[in-house]
Amino acid sequence: MAEFANLPPLSLYVHFPWCIQKCPYCDFNSHVVPQDTFPEKEYLQALKRDLEQELPFVQGRKLESIFFGGGTPSLLSANGVEEMLAHAEKYIGFTRHIEITLEANPGTAEQQRFKAYQQAGINRISLGAQSFDHRQLKKLGRIHCADETRRAVDMLRQANIDNFNLDLMFALPGQTLVEAMVDLQQAIDLAPSHLSWYQLTLEPNTVFYREQPLLPDDDVQFEILQEGHQRLQQQGYLQYETSAFSTAHQQCKHNRNYWEFGDYLGIGAGAHGKTTLKTPEGFHIHRRQKTRVPEHYLQSMNPCSKDQVIDEKDLPCEFAMNALRLTTGVPKKLFVERTGLPWSLIDQKVQGLIQQGLLRDDPEIWVTTPRGALMLNSILECFL
Ligand SMILES: C[S@@+](CC[C@H](N)C(=O)[O-])C[C@H]1O[C@@H](n2cnc3c(N)ncnc32)[C@H](O)[C@@H]1O
Ligand code: SF4
Repeated sequence: MAEFANLPPLSLYVHFPWCIQKCPYCDFNSHVVPQDTFPEKEYLQALKRDLEQELPFVQGRKLESIFFGGGTPSLLSANGVEEMLAHAEKYIGFTRHIEITLEANPGTAEQQRFKAYQQAGINRISLGAQSFDHRQLKKLGRIHCADETRRAVDMLRQANIDNFNLDLMFALPGQTLVEAMVDLQQAIDLAPSHLSWYQLTLEPNTVFYREQPLLPDDDVQFEILQEGHQRLQQQGYLQYETSAFSTAHQQCKHNRNYWEFGDYLGIGAGAHGKTTLKTPEGFHIHRRQKTRVPEHYLQSMNPCSKDQVIDEKDLPCEFAMNALRLTTGVPKKLFVERTGLPWSLIDQKVQGLIQQGLLRDDPEIWVTTPRGALMLNSILECFL
């Protein structure tokens, strides 16, 4: 039976499942709704109900971070965000330096709204720039143009929100190395505190999967990746995860907690959560999932559609899948703290991977070698 000295830190993810338009590459749980026609009042009620049902998993902890993700949560009014935060603070409580992020689409940004979000308690914004090339933005089905992203950044600064992330994608349809670097430089020129630089993937159940656009070939993708990493590093953005780059001390606390196998409550349509529960029989790690379809979620008095205890034999792989994405790895003792299992359980497998040159030989830290980072799936197979 897994043993825990302390419960892991706790975060809260709030999913908002609507967007003004569906982007052809997106497989997130997002549904099209004309602006201002989604049922905000009812959704907030359902979120509060959902949160209250999660309370047994809190077990005396306070929240270290909150993330409003989507979909397009910037369609929510600042009053709505404030109401939700007040509820979370009342029922769970916040740690002193809590990070509270809201994802915003530049096409839905207005100056007063950012200021009002900040006054409501948001202290970090993640802006979906995606590209600065108008032809790409059109192909990607975005509702905004590059100038709107620049304007949104101006508004963020005027609202004193200096801690913001830009989401940017590369290996876009027909994109050359030069075009990808021009795009990346335009993002860097806006001086965000954090950059998420994602390689476009063709996900099943998307328009791009059914009608596949011509993407740059593997060699070009590799060159973009190499040159992009170099450019980011030269300009003060340190990579700390596969796609995450930040200036000093501005890593995303919320995502870091996922990768360090911390706990998080997930509320909202289709949200996922992971929590460690202490019972008289011992500790169990639960994965919980909420009803996906917004209409069903709104009507449901018990929105949890799946609650599964992770089998102990699956914990090493689940932990590695998250922790080994971090470029500087994690202390080995974190494996014991977050899974409740002894290191001796995986030591032999780790030694084998060190000998294959996929993990670094380090007495304290569990981290991939550069080659291992490119072969993460082979490492994970070892723990299956
Ligand atoms: C949860 S999404 C939503 C953010 C927000 N709704 C937006 O689009 O501006 C977070 C980010 O994932 C990235 N993303 C979504 N689908 C992707 C895909 N198929 N390949 C690579 N990155 C993707 C995009 O950069 C996106 O901003
Ligand atoms: S706006 Fe974001 S969440 Fe909505 S469809 Fe586009 S990528 Fe997906």
